[in-house]
Amino acid sequence: MVSRVIPVDDFDLVIFGGTGDLARRKILPGLYRRFLSGQMPEASRIIGAARSDMDSAAWRASIRDAIKEFAGANVQDKASIDGFLERLHYVPVDATGKAGWKELKGLMRKDVVSAFYFSVAPSLFGAIAERLKTHGIAGNASRIVVEKPFGRDLETAKDLNATLAEYFDETQIYRIDHYLGKETVQNLMAVRFANILFEPLWNAQYIDHVQITVAETVGVGGRGAYYDKSGAMRDMVQNHLMQLLCLTAMEPPSHFEPDSVRDEKLKVIRALDPVPSDDIVRGQYREGLDGPSYLEDSENPDSRTESFIAMKVKVSNWRWNGVPFYLRTGKRMKARMSEIVISFKEPPHNIFTEADHPRCNILTIRLQPDEGIDLRMTIKEPGPGGMRFVEVPMDMTFADALGAAAADVPDAYERLIMDVIRGNQTLFMRGDEVEAAWAWTDPLIADWTNKGDRPVSYDAGTAGPEDALILMHRDGRRWREISA
Ligand code: BG6
Repeated sequence: MVSRVIPVDDFDLVIFGGTGDLARRKILPGLYRRFLSGQMPEASRIIGAARSDMDSAAWRASIRDAIKEFAGANVQDKASIDGFLERLHYVPVDATGKAGWKELKGLMRKDVVSAFYFSVAPSLFGAIAERLKTHGIAGNASRIVVEKPFGRDLETAKDLNATLAEYFDETQIYRIDHYLGKETVQNLMAVRFANILFEPLWNAQYIDHVQITVAETVGVGGRGAYYDKSGAMRDMVQNHLMQLLCLTAMEPPSHFEPDSVRDEKLKVIRALDPVPSDDIVRGQYREGLDGPSYLEDSENPDSRTESFIAMKVKVSNWRWNGVPFYLRTGKRMKARMSEIVISFKEPPHNIFTEADHPRCNILTIRLQPDEGIDLRMTIKEPGPGGMRFVEVPMDMTFADALGAAAADVPDAYERLIMDVIRGNQTLFMRGDEVEAAWAWTDPLIADWTNKGDRPVSYDAGTAGPEDALILMHRDGRRWREISA
């Protein structure tokens, strides 16, 4: 299978925070890979803008190092790196002052797509947006890209939305949640809406429960100060897990286009019930053999911030009445594994009275590692001995099913940046979605903060605290094993 690359229109992309970590690790290595694939038009330009006083040659040299480190060894090629770096320019810009804006304007071309990536602290969004407008650098067709954290609660998210809305229309604002750029996340929509098989069963009549797990092996060392003000709820649930939940639970949109999809996601968020505190387990990792405790990593010996959370969530609508969605995410867990599991009900009547009971079908959508889809079916065990059942996987690991095309899958950032240039907002969050997610999250956080609750400790390298297992056991269910 040959992957098809459709070139995008000619563009000037300005990266504010061009010397920062995200630019070096994700944005520029991603753009380099798109360049290699032939998707980037000949004349397109990438302009780094940051406070550091350096010239284009120095920025190119530092980005060369970043590409070597982060673009993946299999794509390293000196000639093409040189070709890519020729498109890079740098302007020192003072985000809150006067310096650099005239020079930036001088570099921008008319009549090409212009996009501005705000890879900076949210406190700078307003100042940059204002200067882009007052200097006439951004026009009505320009796009801006903003990253999480998009606020830390409803109030701050509203303020940010209002600030951006002073200068840009909602159709120009691209709020990145990189989970939406992951291949399998989009595949979830393909599985649901490009096949007839699942949709008739995709409701409370046939589904027992849903599990969404995003487990990581890394701790928060290196970014402990940021994380300690955030915690798993703000850092992962309010955005990434919420998006996975939305795509799993939403009604079929009428078109695969931005507002149809986002309208349906918004309805899911608005249908979420408040979660009683008994249905939430917060955890914090202890010191393990291969790493320090959360308290050491966060450098806050009295921290009550959670590095793990498990919760039972209800979507209050006809489709999902009575179907629990169990969400779980944590740091320093047993393995890096993200998946969505749809656990179907048992058949309504067991005709095999003399045999063990048929098991339930389970559909697993694996985001990482080994992206793919797996459906567990019950069949008869071959051979004599009557009706004995065995569960078999119908496994579609993309790498096996699609070969080289699966290996060639663009990283989430690559895809999303190209969508910005194409002007396609489908995989980006709309302002009202972000606000609705905070409106649901805020009271839960306020509840444990007001009570002064401490998270329970768990051993690093495990599946999290015992209480999380109990959360499901008490409903007569079990989490899926966390394994790589
Ligand atoms: C980020 C969070 O948004 O997502 C991190 O801030 C987390 O804490 C990361 O580690 C996980 O992303 P991925 O793509 O590695 O699953």
